Amino acid sequence: MQPRTIRNVLAASVALGLAVTGMASADPVDDELIIDGDLKIVTQAPAPEHLQDVMDTIWSGWHFREDDTRAMQMDDFDNPGMIFVDRGLDRWNASMGTEDKSCASCHEGPESMKGLRAVTPRVDEATGKVMSIEDYVNDCVTTRMGAEALGMTSAPMKDLLALISMQSRGEIVNVAIDGPAAPFWEQGKEMYYTRYGQLEMSCANCHEDNYGLNIRSDHLSQGQINGFPVYRLKDAGLVTARQRFVGCVRDTRAETFGSGSDEFKALELYVASRGNGLAVEGVSVRH
Ligand code: HEC
Ligand code: HEC
Repeated sequence: MQPRTIRNVLAASVALGLAVTGMASADPVDDELIIDGDLKIVTQAPAPEHLQDVMDTIWSGWHFREDDTRAMQMDDFDNPGMIFVDRGLDRWNASMGTEDKSCASCHEGPESMKGLRAVTPRVDEATGKVMSIEDYVNDCVTTRMGAEALGMTSAPMKDLLALISMQSRGEIVNVAIDGPAAPFWEQGKEMYYTRYGQLEMSCANCHEDNYGLNIRSDHLSQGQINGFPVYRLKDAGLVTARQRFVGCVRDTRAETFGSGSDEFKALELYVASRGNGLAVEGVSVRH
């Protein structure tokens, strides 16, 4: 890990009006995520090339959580996110819309989605648009099933997202940042370093400069999204990456973009690329 300077730590704590504690115990927890005793998930990796001047190692948010929260993710029976995966399978098989088709009518089993979560968001060649899993789902729902678009953070969308993400569990995130993705990646990067809100804090101020530190008794992670969707114990529900962005921007007391906005799509692409090298966790558990 890169050494953190006292200066930027203090700048952040002053801006936040927070007590920074545990500066000495700044490290991510040294532990291994092995699910059900046999599936090893890559939760730390060398930083991707585009980040190598700012950090050496990338860490999943899992390493920054309490022992009992980490333990819940090591056993599918204890992982509350699995309920949403089961519900997603029911939705997958249920017919809807004027075409009276289910996802299964065209895609067969959900295994057909294997690998997708590791490479999205990505730019769709045909339309030139940034597509995350939610966007693909709605494309099928509206153009192929004859139904109304699902809300980006609605229960059916999140259930399907959980199911589809799970098919790539353990696969290494490898989101494209070049070619047609480049302009969106640049846009997302710029957002990541822009200071928002009354606190004038950027994503980087917290998740790059100060990860490992405790603010408001919260152990700051690198803000990676390889674990999404996340089951948040605090909300007793599933949270998507863009929902998390909304929450973080709000915490800087700024007006936020909507979870379906183009801005957050670009940000999602960029943040995903900061995790290139970590594994997809399927549905993770956070506090
Ligand atoms: C009428 C057939 C049809 C139905 C019904 C359908 N899809 Fe699709 N779906 C397609 C086609 C065709 C594509 C684009 C070609 C491809 O990549 O498979 C696609 C692409 C996708 C993709 C992107 C896959 C990739 O690898 O690029 C996702 C995700 C997806 N569909 C999810 C769903 C979900 C979830 C449902 C049910 C809510 C659904 N689809 C219903 C036909 C369908
Ligand atoms: C004022 C500090 C602060 C700022 C600024 C901030 N966050 Fe966060 N963020 C947090 C805290 C605290 C958490 C919860 C603990 C953790 O996982 O780091 C969090 C969690 C996250 C997580 C969840 C990580 C996981 O594994 O569960 C993501 C993703 C994230 N932030 C992304 C962002 C992005 C993108 C931005 C910029 C738009 C941002 N954050 C701005 C403080 C901040």
